[in-house]
Amino acid sequence: MRVIAPLVLTFIALSLLPSIEMKRPGKGRGLKGARQKLTQDRLRRKALRRQSRSGPSGLVTPNCSEMTQSDGLYVDCQDQSLTSIPPSSAWSGVPKHLLLARNQIKVLRDGAFLGYKRLISLDLQQNQISQIEEGAFQGLTHLTTLLLQHNQLRTLSEETLLPMPNLHYLRLYNNPWKCLCPMESLIRTLQVPSNRNLGSHARCAGPISRKNRKLKEINPESLCEESNQIGDLHGNVTHPIEPSPIRGKSDATTLCHTYIFPRTWMDCRNRGLTEVPSGIPEDVVGVDLSHNSIHHLKPRDFQGAKSLRNLNLSNNNMERIDTGSLSGLLHLHELDLSSNGLRFVQYGVLEDLYFLSKLKLEGNPWVCDYNIHYMAYWLRLHPGVKHSGLLCQSPLEYMGDRVEDYMHSYNRECPKERQLSGLDQNQKDAELWGTPMELQGEVEEELEPSHLRTSQKYEIFKLA
Ligand SMILES: *[C@@H]1O[C@H](CO)[C@@H](O)[C@H](O)[C@H]1NC(C)=O
Ligand SMILES: *[C@@H]1O[C@H](CO)[C@@H](O)[C@H](O)[C@H]1NC(C)=O
Ligand SMILES: *[C@@H]1O[C@H](CO)[C@@H](O)[C@H](O)[C@H]1NC(C)=O
Repeated sequence: MRVIAPLVLTFIALSLLPSIEMKRPGKGRGLKGARQKLTQDRLRRKALRRQSRSGPSGLVTPNCSEMTQSDGLYVDCQDQSLTSIPPSSAWSGVPKHLLLARNQIKVLRDGAFLGYKRLISLDLQQNQISQIEEGAFQGLTHLTTLLLQHNQLRTLSEETLLPMPNLHYLRLYNNPWKCLCPMESLIRTLQVPSNRNLGSHARCAGPISRKNRKLKEINPESLCEESNQIGDLHGNVTHPIEPSPIRGKSDATTLCHTYIFPRTWMDCRNRGLTEVPSGIPEDVVGVDLSHNSIHHLKPRDFQGAKSLRNLNLSNNNMERIDTGSLSGLLHLHELDLSSNGLRFVQYGVLEDLYFLSKLKLEGNPWVCDYNIHYMAYWLRLHPGVKHSGLLCQSPLEYMGDRVEDYMHSYNRECPKERQLSGLDQNQKDAELWGTPMELQGEVEEELEPSHLRTSQKYEIFKLA
């Protein structure tokens, strides 16, 4: 019995392997999983040998920072001119997140991440990776997020991804993909409906007949057809290209850099943008559009960006924000409008910002006249919104004054006349908000989301 039991177990294990493999699409898999298990030890030995070669201290400790968040240890090695993966022994604990963006890594060798067993996310974007050896990702069984965008990859086989059974977020765009037969199995995998977040936005750079086609949409049947092979051998069309040209309105995903951790945000700074790029993905929490030339926000500019919490529009040329431009930004917490050309904010613009808590307004030529009243009243009505920099720049009379002080003196000087003259309904509403009724309303505000608050205000007005 004692001899038979292990044998039975081995048999069960071996008979399970092909059925696991079978679930994956594509062909030619067979006992690959078993083979990979066997090669893992070989890879580990290779990796160890490589590490010990880098000196008796084991490694040149890179200048990275470590931080512990609720979801584990982050190791931040961005912008460090690294050319290889630092060994896991360099860190004080077991990293869950490894940030290697913007280094100079060119090749990912077999077993490069063998010490990083617990890794959940791996950010390798904006390197110069042109080659990934088949065993590079061995051992990353917990990895869910892998960022490879903005590299020099032309080809990748599905086998490379097999060691990461939990991968559900893979970024491959802005690589010069050569859409030929070796990519067939990978492309099939990307197209499985449940792999929705694998390889979105990635496009072929060659051959010419497939240039700019999305990996997600290309017909995998056609990749290994004979005519392509011949075409490729004789053609001269697969030299690397830069990010695909922008057609029509610029697309945020190709134009900006996307980062996933510690939160999903897009860096669109300094892109020479004259308008808000379209297609900000639904899961993006922060967008930095500062230092561009956006002069006008239009309705639906942020359509679909449902999760946005931080929006930075500082240092643009913004003169106008249309009503409805910020609609849909239900969760926006922080809005930076500083250093623009704003003189006032259109009536209604702020109504969609139910959860705003911080608003930066400095460096704009705010004009203290009727037009500024909307914003002033809105801010008074939303005391939870911390704002800064709302100072009159003109007329001369009020220059340098806080807009609140201008409002105060405006109301003090001749409130009666102004209330009776041709002011619009909103302004009359606003002036009634200085009554005890308003105080009660504001106490209730703490308890209610503001879309309920607003209607409450109108009820109060009607009662009054
Ligand atoms: C390491 O990083 C710190 C902080 O960014 C910097 O002051 C220091 O010069 C860096 N050292 C090296 C060797 O790059
Ligand atoms: C391929 O294209 C490059 C640049 O366009 C050119 O210099 C080279 O001679 C071409 N090679 C062939 C085989 O046509
Ligand atoms: C917005 O961007 C500017 C310029 O890049 C920066 O100085 C500012 O701190 C940012 N605002 C916020 C709220 O992060």
